[in-house]
Amino acid sequence: MTKKTIEQLRSRRWFGGTPQSTEHTGHALQAGYGREEFEGKPVIGIINTWSDMNPCHAHLKERAEAVKRGVWQAGGFPVELPAMSLGEGYVKPSSMLYRNFLAMETEELLRCHPIDGAILLGGCDKTTPGLLLGAISMNLPTIYCPAGFTMGATFRGERFGSGTGAFRWAPELIAGKLSPQEWQTVEQKIWSSPGTCNVMGTASTMTALAEVLGLSLPGASSVPAMDSRGHQLAAAAGRRVVEMVWDDLKPSDILTNQSFTNAAKTCVALGGSTNATIHLIALARRAGASFTLEDFDAIGKQVPVLANVQPSGEYIMPEFADAGGLPAMLSNMTALLDLDCLTVTGQTLGENIEGARVENDDIIRSLDNPVATEALAVLKGNLAPNGCVIKPSASDPALQKHRGKAVVFENANDLAARIHSPDLEVDPSSVLILRNVGPKGGPGMAENGMLPIPKKMVEQGVRDMVRISDARMSGTSFGTCVLHVSPEAYIGGPLALVQNGDEIEINIPERSITLHVDEAELDQRRQAWAPPAPHFKRGWGLLFNDNVSQAHEGCDFEILSSREPNPEPAIHGKI
Ligand code: FES
Repeated sequence: MTKKTIEQLRSRRWFGGTPQSTEHTGHALQAGYGREEFEGKPVIGIINTWSDMNPCHAHLKERAEAVKRGVWQAGGFPVELPAMSLGEGYVKPSSMLYRNFLAMETEELLRCHPIDGAILLGGCDKTTPGLLLGAISMNLPTIYCPAGFTMGATFRGERFGSGTGAFRWAPELIAGKLSPQEWQTVEQKIWSSPGTCNVMGTASTMTALAEVLGLSLPGASSVPAMDSRGHQLAAAAGRRVVEMVWDDLKPSDILTNQSFTNAAKTCVALGGSTNATIHLIALARRAGASFTLEDFDAIGKQVPVLANVQPSGEYIMPEFADAGGLPAMLSNMTALLDLDCLTVTGQTLGENIEGARVENDDIIRSLDNPVATEALAVLKGNLAPNGCVIKPSASDPALQKHRGKAVVFENANDLAARIHSPDLEVDPSSVLILRNVGPKGGPGMAENGMLPIPKKMVEQGVRDMVRISDARMSGTSFGTCVLHVSPEAYIGGPLALVQNGDEIEINIPERSITLHVDEAELDQRRQAWAPPAPHFKRGWGLLFNDNVSQAHEGCDFEILSSREPNPEPAIHGKI
C-alpha cells in the first residue's frame, strides 16, 4: 500500500509553511504546543459527545484522553472537538429530531478544521448514527469508539435491564402491586453506572452494527463502560487512526453493499432494535450502498436470533460480553456473512474474528439452536403502502395473526390524556392506533410506539395488545407493536383515515397489514382530510420538516444524503 506523504496531508493546507499558514501555526503555538508536536503530523479530530445532560457519556472526557495518548504514541496530533450530545432521556421532543443535526455538525466540524483523521466518541442511541452519517459524508479515515454499556442489576430476583426492566415492572405499579418506595428502587436500577442501556436496545444494536460495518476495532462494542478495556481500546484506536491516515483508508474503502448486508444480518441475529432499520438505511444511502426495507425483511426470514439478550431474550449486555460478545456471535454465523469485507484494522471481518470463542452457549446460541426464528418483519398493505416494521420475537405469539377494532389516539397528547381513562372503550382484542407521531408529525418520530396497555386492561391481567403507530419505539421495549407506518399520518398517509371501530388485521407470517374499509369510503375520508397545522415557523424545526424523508427511506435529509462532494474550504490566511 502506498503511504501518503506529509505534503499530501489535508492539514497541510492550513499548516503548510506558506505565508498564509502563519495564522494557523501561530494559533497552535498559542495553545501551548511546540512546533515539534504538530508540524508535519496527521491531525486527528476527536469528536466527543460528552455532556452533563448525557449520563450515558459521563466517562467520555477521560475516554478522549485515552484516545489522545494513542494518537501521540503513533506520531499524530490529537485535537478534541465537542459536538452536540443527544442524551436519549433528556432531549425532547425526541432525540431523532436532532440525529441529522449531529450528522451535519460532525461533517462540518471535520470539513472546516485542519483534520486528517477522526475518532468518534458516542454510544447513546442517536449519537452513533449521527456521528457515522457525518463521517461517511466527509470520508476521512475514521474509527468509531463506543461508550460501552452500564452495569447489570437484578430486582426481585429477576435480571433487570435498562429500560426493559422499568417497562416490565410499570404495569405492576399501575396495578398497585408495587409501592412508590419499591418504584424508587426500580428507578435506581435502570442505569447503575455511566454507560449506555445494558440491553439490546438501540445503543447496543447500533454500536454492534458500527463494528460489523468495519468502522470500530474488533470487540469494541462488547465492552462495559466501566471496564478498563474501554480506555485500552480507545488508545489503540488513536494509534490505529494515525496509520489509517498514512494509508488513506477511508469509510468509502470499507462500506459496501456486502458490509451493509452483514450489518443487517447481525442486527437480526442480535434481536436488535427496530430503530436500526431506519439508521442502517440512512447510513447505506450516505455510503452509496444499495439497501432497502425489503432487504431487511428478506434477511429477517433468513437469519434467526442468536443473542439471548433482553428485550428479545433473557440476559443483559454484561453477560453477553462475558460470553464472548459480538465477535463470538459472529463466529457462530460465519456461514451467513461475507467475511472478506475490509475493516478499520486493515484486515477483513473474517480475520478480525479469528479465534473468537463462545463461552456460554445459552447466551450466544448456534444457528441450529436459536432463541427465536424471527426478530424483524416488514408488513405492507393498504394501511402501510411503503411498509412498517414489527419485532415478532418481542411480541405475543397469540397476536401474530389478529383482527380487531381500532381505538384511535390522534397524537401523543391525546394518548396521554385518555389511555388510562375508565371511560375508554376498549377490550383485549382492540387494536390501539396512535398517529401523527411520525418523522414530520411527531415531530421527530418519538419513541411512543409501545403504547401503554390501558389501566382497565392491566387490571384484567392483559399484558400485550396489538398497537400500531407511525412512531418508533425504544429498542428496550417489547410487545406486539407495529411501528414506522409509512407514509405517516401527518402527510396524509392511510393511518390518518382510520376511525374508531374500523376493523384492522395484521398477519405477520403473511407480512400483511389491512384496514378493512372499502376504497370508496376511504376516498371520501381522504377528501375530507386536512393537513394538521405546522409545528414550526422557523429554525431547525422548519428545516427538519421541509427536508426529512419517511421512515422507509431512513429519515435523512435529501440535501445530506446526496453523494455530491462539497469543495474543501478556501484558505486565505489573514496575516
Ligand atoms: Fe442512553 Fe439508553 S438512554 S443508551
